[in-house]
Amino acid sequence: MQELIKSTAEALMRAKHCVALTGAGISVESGIPPFRGKGGIWEKYDPMEYAHIDAFMSNPTKVWQVLLKDMKSIVDKARPNDAHLGLARLEQLGILKTIITQNVDGLHQLAGNTDVIEFHGNFAWHRCLDCRQRIATHAIDLTTIPPHCQCGGIYRPECIFFGEAIPPQHLMRSQQEATRCDVMLVIGTSAVVQPVALMPVIARETNAKVFEINPERTPLTDNISNGILEGKAGHVMNRLVEEVERQLSTLDPIY
Ligand code: APR
Repeated sequence: MQELIKSTAEALMRAKHCVALTGAGISVESGIPPFRGKGGIWEKYDPMEYAHIDAFMSNPTKVWQVLLKDMKSIVDKARPNDAHLGLARLEQLGILKTIITQNVDGLHQLAGNTDVIEFHGNFAWHRCLDCRQRIATHAIDLTTIPPHCQCGGIYRPECIFFGEAIPPQHLMRSQQEATRCDVMLVIGTSAVVQPVALMPVIARETNAKVFEINPERTPLTDNISNGILEGKAGHVMNRLVEEVERQLSTLDPIY
């Protein structure tokens, strides 16, 4: 693993435009469960019954009661972990330019990253179905479920449900970033949901080096990735950023 950490750090040092693609796994160490695999949310709830726009529109009370209330309490408490902070450090060092995230928890922005494409929207804000008034999620009062706006309309999260289109501006920018990057870090995603799982394929096809950080192998591992740093994102990112800082310290000062 040390060899791979070293070569990945070298690729980051040489990168002209590094992009990260993140999934639920990067937030597991912040207390937010993943969707798939051990302890995954979709093992508990059927996504078609609770996370599809048709399910929400036909029975908002049920979706709020079962899924959204839980999500709100978990996201309200979550704070960035070492993996988020490591990506913020890579941006500070001028290495990481953009994060494409599938996550809706807002933890990359809280960690300090300034260019975050929220591919699936975000759960930090809700809006009224009727008057479209926005409200911060932490300000929503859940004494009545589903929560209502003053106008009487029901609040829905600004993240997208299954059955809804990816915001075109996020899809466009993500494709652009995947095409122009020369290094892509793919962190904590099972890489099974489209079209976001296409981004590492586009990156590889346009000659970028793709490195995964994940305790498990994914469909990208054998065909697309140049390497997989197998482990939990917080621990691996700590070692990777440490190696980048070490290599930076050995560089002769420019002047
Ligand atoms: N560090 C790094 N990776 C981890 C960790 C960890 N501590 N724990 C789990 N993982 C990995 C798992 O091995 C898995 O590959 O994170 C991945 C989580 O996969 P999913 O739960 O499928 O999350 P994600 O890939 O983001 O799902 C994509 O599916 O349901 C939709 O909209 C939802 O955005 C989500 C999309």
